[in-house]
Amino acid sequence: MNEFVYWNPVKWIFGKDTVNQLRDQAASYGEKVLLVYGGGSIKKSGLYDLVLKQLEGFSITELAGVEPNPRLTTVKRGAELCRENDISFILAVGGGSVIDCAKAVAAAAKFDGDPWDFITKKAPVEDALPFGTILTHAATASEMNSGSVITNWETNEKLGWGSPHVFPKFSICDPHWTLTVPKDQTTYGVVDMMTHMLEQYFHNADQTDVQDRMIEGTLKTLVEKAPDLMKDLKDEKLRETVMFAGTIGLNGMLQMGYRGDWATHNIEHAVSAVYDIPHGGGLAILFPNWMKHNIDVKPERFKQLAVRVFDIDSEGKSDREAGLEGIEALRAFWTKIEAPERLADYDIDDSRIEEMAEKTLFNGPFGNFTKLDREDVIAILRASL
Ligand code: NZQ
Ligand code: ZN
Repeated sequence: MNEFVYWNPVKWIFGKDTVNQLRDQAASYGEKVLLVYGGGSIKKSGLYDLVLKQLEGFSITELAGVEPNPRLTTVKRGAELCRENDISFILAVGGGSVIDCAKAVAAAAKFDGDPWDFITKKAPVEDALPFGTILTHAATASEMNSGSVITNWETNEKLGWGSPHVFPKFSICDPHWTLTVPKDQTTYGVVDMMTHMLEQYFHNADQTDVQDRMIEGTLKTLVEKAPDLMKDLKDEKLRETVMFAGTIGLNGMLQMGYRGDWATHNIEHAVSAVYDIPHGGGLAILFPNWMKHNIDVKPERFKQLAVRVFDIDSEGKSDREAGLEGIEALRAFWTKIEAPERLADYDIDDSRIEEMAEKTLFNGPFGNFTKLDREDVIAILRASL
């Protein structure tokens, strides 16, 4: 293992009816609240009314209509609202996009300049407004990390950034409010959280036996439970399991002592920046192809995943053969829960492959398990067509 410091100050409030704790949690951050939400799912589900009831007596300004793959323009609008209304606290109610947007608004409200400068890391984030979240979609773990991903649609760039100043003060995760997540988004969420675990699983540190088992156990649970959830999207117990897995997937706990790979996330962000596809859909297409492309880097790692998560019988097989069977099992599992398999499923052809590859390389070759250069990225994208 590498040395590490684990610090995560988010108050994680999990379980049934925990939205009723909102009033108490918000009480210490002043009465001027910016309520951030997406395209209206919280109004249909009734959560919006419940939130307003909890915040009776607070002065509320709204930033509504945050897009999936949230836009820089929306972040700027939110920062303006904060300044105009002297906002003291931000409450994000939604999925990863709403929370990521709220993080950027929280930092932009305290930043003198164009927020794109801190997203592109040209300027540091030195402060942010405090914010809390109510999660409605299990996927990104943005509710318990300090990362955010913002799209600049003018330049077709989708970039991740982060700062210790944008950990949520608290995150309320009540699985009940995820019951209305439609089937396709439920699939994307499961794929996204699994891919977070897989990105972390492929690393170069040794002595990570405990971390390996934590990731394998969580992946195996999702392989067992997600198909049942797809059959009954209203099963609150299964929603609870999946919601817990999503937060654990990227709140830092699984990544102690090593650096995960994260190359596929970079490639997916480039695809989304050009074609605006759902993040989990892009990952389902790309990750198995990243695995096939890199299996020879450390075939024993791929075999371990195959055996422990997908129960592949490795008797008489090379590590590579068993590993490949594991990759096929992962693909078959994602197909079973109706994830896309090819870029063609989103009508993406080879016409902009070079442009996407270029975007992934803004910092040069990338990936921590193994480095990818331009040719590698193009090969993975071509295999994904
Ligand atoms: O906008 P509304 O109306 O709320 O509808 C949303 C949206 O259309 C809907 N939805 C969410 N909760 C719902 C619901 N519909 C019905 N009932 C509910 N309870 O689902 C759709 C997708 O929501 P979105 O927030 O975009 O999904 P997700 O949580 O998957 O977030 C994706 C974004 O997060 C970024 C992705 O790149 C993408 O931009 N990521 C953020 C990360 C982070 N901050 O740590 C890491 C991830 O790897 C990822 O890159
Ligand atoms: Zn992701």
